[in-house]
Amino acid sequence: MTDVPTQQAETRVRAAIVGTGSYLPEKVLANSDLEKMVNTSDEWIFTRTGIRERRMVTDNQATSDLGAEAARRALEDAGIGPDDLSLIIVATITPDYFFPSTACMIQHKIGATKAGAFDLSAACAGFVCGVIMGARLIQSDPRQTVLVVGAETLTKFTDFTDRSSCVLFGDGAGAAILQACTDGRGLMAAEYGADGSGGDFMKLPAGGSVLPASEATVRQRLHYIKIRGRETFRFAVVKMAELVESALKESGLTMEDVAVIVPHQVNLRILQAAGERLGVGMDKIYCNIDRYGNTSAASAAIALDEAARVGRIRRGDIIVLVAFGGGLTWSSAVVRW
Ligand code: ACO
Repeated sequence: MTDVPTQQAETRVRAAIVGTGSYLPEKVLANSDLEKMVNTSDEWIFTRTGIRERRMVTDNQATSDLGAEAARRALEDAGIGPDDLSLIIVATITPDYFFPSTACMIQHKIGATKAGAFDLSAACAGFVCGVIMGARLIQSDPRQTVLVVGAETLTKFTDFTDRSSCVLFGDGAGAAILQACTDGRGLMAAEYGADGSGGDFMKLPAGGSVLPASEATVRQRLHYIKIRGRETFRFAVVKMAELVESALKESGLTMEDVAVIVPHQVNLRILQAAGERLGVGMDKIYCNIDRYGNTSAASAAIALDEAARVGRIRRGDIIVLVAFGGGLTWSSAVVRW
């Protein structure tokens, strides 16, 4: 899907992001709080990850509660109501239930009675995959209005006795509304992929059909997220740089044309290293990991909403969404705002 902003391209139907929203739980879990739980320090966490604090849900908040609030804010931003939605795609690895889907929970909570709804499981790459999927649906049927949500309650699946992983994760949700536009805005190029041979890098071992929940799996703490940080680090740096370059090539644009890269918030050092490979500084990479940590499928969605609201993204700007994570999975999208 190669594209340059010619007169012809101006009239082409593309799926644009016409509204965004996000919601972060109120409770702040600072590095100093983690110092009381495991043998770690604010200095170690900040220098290795760039994280100062993250948000944490209360016991009675579910993933759909965060996603529904982000969705309401995105609807308001787009100036449309829940009845206007034709489809809800929710990217999450921390669903309310195995089934029904979190998308169905959100559909009910926001009263989007005319919308279809399903979940998408692509870990941290999920929100960007959802945007691509929604955009391609709109390109084949421009009457559709699609809500894409990335929402996670990772702290409910975090082992707060494991210092190698518990310092990384936070909770939150972000959302985007996609509609057909003919004014040059919208998805210009996209890429997604997977490598299942890296499935062990990040996983939640028990609770599925391989290891159904049992007294033994609970005792062995197998219902918590396990990561292999060093391997993930290497994969993320290389993949983020490759994805940005290939999506730009496909769109016929260069890094000079890009106003801002909005990446999955995985680790500040990963973003810096990928930026070096791409020859860009952190002024071109939107980063809020210091305040929210890694919120998996929610992270690029929250960053996108925040960047738009603070004026970091302006009408007509070219942005690159890029994400990568468990599976392994990856996705990138070049969007004219
Ligand atoms: N506090 C203090 N020390 C710690 C902590 C901690 N929280 N965690 C690990 N250490 C220690 C280790 O035990 C080790 O000690 P040793 O040398 O005595 O054995 C030392 O610190 C170095 O450990 P490493 O794992 O090599 O540390 P590294 O520099 O790789 O940083 C980190 C770890 C931050 C997890 C990094 O690998 C990383 O960011 N990885 C990618 C992020 C990731 O895995 N995210 C998971 C989600 S997946 C995704 O979003 C794509």
